[in-house]
Amino acid sequence: MKSYAYLGWMALLGAALVGGCGKSGDEASSNDPSKPGGKKLVVGFSQIGSESDWRKAETSSVKEEAQKRGITLKFDDAQQNQDGQVKAIRSFIAQKVDAILLAPKTEAGWEPVLKEAKAAHIPVILMDRGIAVSDDSLYTTLIGSDFIEEGRKAGQFVADALKGKGNIVEIEGHVGSAPAIDRKKGFHDVVDKQPGLKVILAQSGDFTLVGGKQVMEAFLKAQGKNINAVYCHNDDEALGAIQAITEAGLKPGKDMIVVSIDGTKKAVQALVDGKENYVVECNPLLGPQGFDAIQAVLAGKTLAKKIVSKETTFDQTSAAKALPDRQY
Ligand code: AHR
Repeated sequence: MKSYAYLGWMALLGAALVGGCGKSGDEASSNDPSKPGGKKLVVGFSQIGSESDWRKAETSSVKEEAQKRGITLKFDDAQQNQDGQVKAIRSFIAQKVDAILLAPKTEAGWEPVLKEAKAAHIPVILMDRGIAVSDDSLYTTLIGSDFIEEGRKAGQFVADALKGKGNIVEIEGHVGSAPAIDRKKGFHDVVDKQPGLKVILAQSGDFTLVGGKQVMEAFLKAQGKNINAVYCHNDDEALGAIQAITEAGLKPGKDMIVVSIDGTKKAVQALVDGKENYVVECNPLLGPQGFDAIQAVLAGKTLAKKIVSKETTFDQTSAAKALPDRQY
């Protein structure tokens, strides 16, 4: 049975070293994460792919933070293939990494491989997306956003902007993924309460610009000017939808309300340009918290099962001020 060989050593450094997950990355980055004998911590990171600017920012955040802390990172980009993610985790286990960061593509399908990680005593930290497992001891913690709340904020904006009356189309995220499921739920929690609001079409754009554009083209073909608002589960889809609306000879942000989630520079710029109406922030810069969590759990600390990011929203009025500070 593998044990954390340096656990006692890490525990000696105690709170001064890791201080829990509330610490900023900068504070924590001054810690020395090497093991006794000068051996560096080794962490595996299984990433879904690079479908959106948000995800590219998450990958950069993890890679930069590992480098800052002197942690050896084994990175695998599964290119949207969940079986590839499972394979990557098995390979991390075989390489006896100290911990695993996992950004899971969908909610389902993780139980067997996470049981293997648990049997090998390798802690698994979920990055940004949740999973559906019968035994939540299969992962240490989930670091990410409240996707239901994000959907509710988007729904409230659309309900207010349409004054409770109008036709909405919904471009969903990847089918079966936590953000697609939860952002739909949160949005419908709000708009379904208003009898004058109808979601007339809904389809997945796979969290990509190309997907968002294609889906919006089909929606416009089917409903044209009947559409009063477009709700996109992420910014890349909204940028694609904006292209489709423009190419159809309509003005996004004016003829149709456009709302999305993430808070990327490009979407905040679209607000400034008057092509989008509302953006709900979702923070991808999770590297510092991810490694804080790893160092804490390896030092024997117990973490909360979910660590939720604090996030804001942007409209056309607040966007210009926010734009220069956007980091992704
Ligand atoms: O899981 C977070 C979502 O995944 C982001 O909103 C989206 O842009 C990404 O691809």
